[in-house]
Amino acid sequence: MGADIKEKTPVRKIMILNGAGKKDGKTAEMISAFSRAAEANGNEIKEFQLIDMNIRDCLDCQECSKKEPGSRNPCIQEDDMTKIYEAFFEADVIVFASPVYFWTLSGILKTAVDRLYAVFRNNYEVRPKECVLLMSSGGSDLKLTSEWYHGFEYWMDWKSIGEAINDVSLAAQIGSMIR
Ligand SMILES: Cc1cc2nc3c(=O)[nH]c(=O)nc-3n(C[C@H](O)[C@H](O)[C@H](O)COP(=O)(O)O)c2cc1C
Repeated sequence: MGADIKEKTPVRKIMILNGAGKKDGKTAEMISAFSRAAEANGNEIKEFQLIDMNIRDCLDCQECSKKEPGSRNPCIQEDDMTKIYEAFFEADVIVFASPVYFWTLSGILKTAVDRLYAVFRNNYEVRPKECVLLMSSGGSDLKLTSEWYHGFEYWMDWKSIGEAINDVSLAAQIGSMIR
């Protein structure tokens, strides 16, 4: 007389770093499609609109390597990056979303990504994460962006779930794969 216990899929936590300047542009459209599909599977999403945040550049001061290892706030600069660090440690999936600016990420997204350096200099216990790239562009030469993404993925030892560039239905498909 076995009880019919259904395995509940654990909720996955997704952090989106949105590097677009527009709130209603093509990047936002890709993020919406991705998020709707991922949320339909019960996943939790935390999106950061970087354009509204105060995030300073990494100074390469190396103070992060001198802080107590495993600090949840590994950088000595006190700005909005503290909110991103908090979500980063909780997240299973990191989404990089940006318009293509001069063949690569927007400056604000690159600045936030550079500040993640502090996590790796300070915390040797960061569990591997999965990642997604959502980009929009005017043209079709996206080689550099894709190279950056896969270089980062390789260096971090993360696993890419997928990349969608100017393709809203692919963005939704990637979101629906997260469960
Ligand atoms: C500063 C700047 C640089 C750009 N550089 C490129 C580029 O190198 N390649 C490209 O295909 N589009 C480029 N574009 C076009 C944007 O990528 C495109 O308009 C994008 O879809 C905007 O996304 P959004 O609607 O989310 O703002 C550039 C736009 C700006 C403002």
